[in-house]
Amino acid sequence: MVGLTGGLDMESDEIETPFGIIDEQTVKAIERWRYEAVQEVMDEVPSLRTREIAEFVADGGRVRSFIRVRGRPMGPWMLLAVDAILERDFEVSTVEWYGEPPSTAHVPPITKSVPVSASQSKNVLFHATRFVTEKKSGRKWAITTEEDLRCGAFYFSFETAEDDEDVKMQRIWKSMRHWLRTESPMKGGALRAGGSFMDLDESITLDDVVLSDEVRKAITKNVLTFLKNVVTFTKNGNKDSRGVLLTGPPGCGKTLTSRALVNRRGDATSIYVSSDDIREPGHLTSIYTLARAFSPTLVIIEDLDCLGGAGMDRKKSAGHPLLGEFLEILSGSTDNSQVVTVASTNHPNLLDEALINRPGRIDAIIPVSFPDTRGRRLIIEMEIKHHNVEEGIDIASLAKETEGFTGSHLVGLVNDAELESMHRLGSDGDDDEKVLITQADFDTALAEIKETRERAAGSIMVEIRPREDPSYGEAYR
Ligand SMILES: Nc1ncnc2c1ncn2[C@@H]1O[C@H](COP(=O)(O)OP(=O)(O)OP(=O)(O)O)[C@@H](O)[C@H]1O
Ligand SMILES: [Mg+2]
Repeated sequence: MVGLTGGLDMESDEIETPFGIIDEQTVKAIERWRYEAVQEVMDEVPSLRTREIAEFVADGGRVRSFIRVRGRPMGPWMLLAVDAILERDFEVSTVEWYGEPPSTAHVPPITKSVPVSASQSKNVLFHATRFVTEKKSGRKWAITTEEDLRCGAFYFSFETAEDDEDVKMQRIWKSMRHWLRTESPMKGGALRAGGSFMDLDESITLDDVVLSDEVRKAITKNVLTFLKNVVTFTKNGNKDSRGVLLTGPPGCGKTLTSRALVNRRGDATSIYVSSDDIREPGHLTSIYTLARAFSPTLVIIEDLDCLGGAGMDRKKSAGHPLLGEFLEILSGSTDNSQVVTVASTNHPNLLDEALINRPGRIDAIIPVSFPDTRGRRLIIEMEIKHHNVEEGIDIASLAKETEGFTGSHLVGLVNDAELESMHRLGSDGDDDEKVLITQADFDTALAEIKETRERAAGSIMVEIRPREDPSYGEAYR
């Protein structure tokens, strides 16, 4: 068969090239000759790097190597792990780096800054070969880390003398992974989907979210109590993961609740995933790999129905590969060890029935919906604490007047009242202490918001025929 479009068609016996057709066997043979020729040259004149490693770890004898490759975010984290393990278990003799192959000269090692919290980074060796001796066994190693800048892969190689002893090369890698799981800054940290640290507003707690007692209990029990007790819970034979779906209209506090949960996660790690973070199949799976690596973990998935952006058929997971992948992860066919997922959505009706109607995927559906009169009153009271408001505002009647407002609308009401007050006082930006929000400001803001809401709902048609309005031109009189 002839390759149709040229290039390397692995299925075919022959390959079409700009120079004619050659069969695959010949290409393979050419590649092998080339490889062997390079090896021959390298064996004859080993690079400075190869010579120095052999000299250090094996007195010039044969060397065994073990290589691991990692992408992001694991790659940079593994650099941190190399540093930590070297400091703990090894004596470092020297650190070198070599120019491009054939590596005939030393060049300075390169360092890289790896974030260890939202505001701090640590400088770690990056493109470098460390010549080290294991404290316990006296065995010598060369440990090299480098990044292939073309594809962002991080290479870790461990080289030591080839001798009769069966050296467990993987044990250094294992102890690095163990350090990551137990002692690294990622363990217990608040991470984003891509692995960066979140800049948290730690002052937000569940007390800042106005919820009915029933909803508050459901959230606390299913998420915080579960996370705190997951070890005992699982020991007693129960399932080790949990899925919670927060449902409700926009602006009713789902995101606020999630942020408060992240702040209350205790020793658990959290991973915060916005729907924009997930673009391709495989992203969610890799997030859950991280979640398990640092468990117990709280995974927050915002706006589940928007995974991968709009425009897909969200109702059936079959038509939506990302939702299908999410189901697969939650369904327990993968081991979810000690992971609590809190997903939120405005449209539970759009989600696949398989997601919500089967225990083991979503264990609790919790409505975070419109606040009632008492709830609205509490939200207004909470919000005005951050503003300069005159005594005696009639909050009870504002709460009554705002039926159908979400928490977000109520915050908007206080903001609009402040803007009204600034406008009324002719404030020019330099004197914000002067701004004092009055009852009249609230009344005006409320009337305007109601009007806007009605317009938005389409109940007031745009007037085509202008009515006579005496206020036109008032400003020019
Ligand atoms: N129940 C509430 N208690 C206190 N404040 C609230 C509440 N609901 C909303 N708010 C206020 O409204 C803001 C927006 O709410 P939030 O982002 O949590 O809504 P959401 O339910 O996540 O909306 P969306 O579905 O659009 O993502 C909050 O930051 C808070 O100031
Ligand atoms: Mg939200």
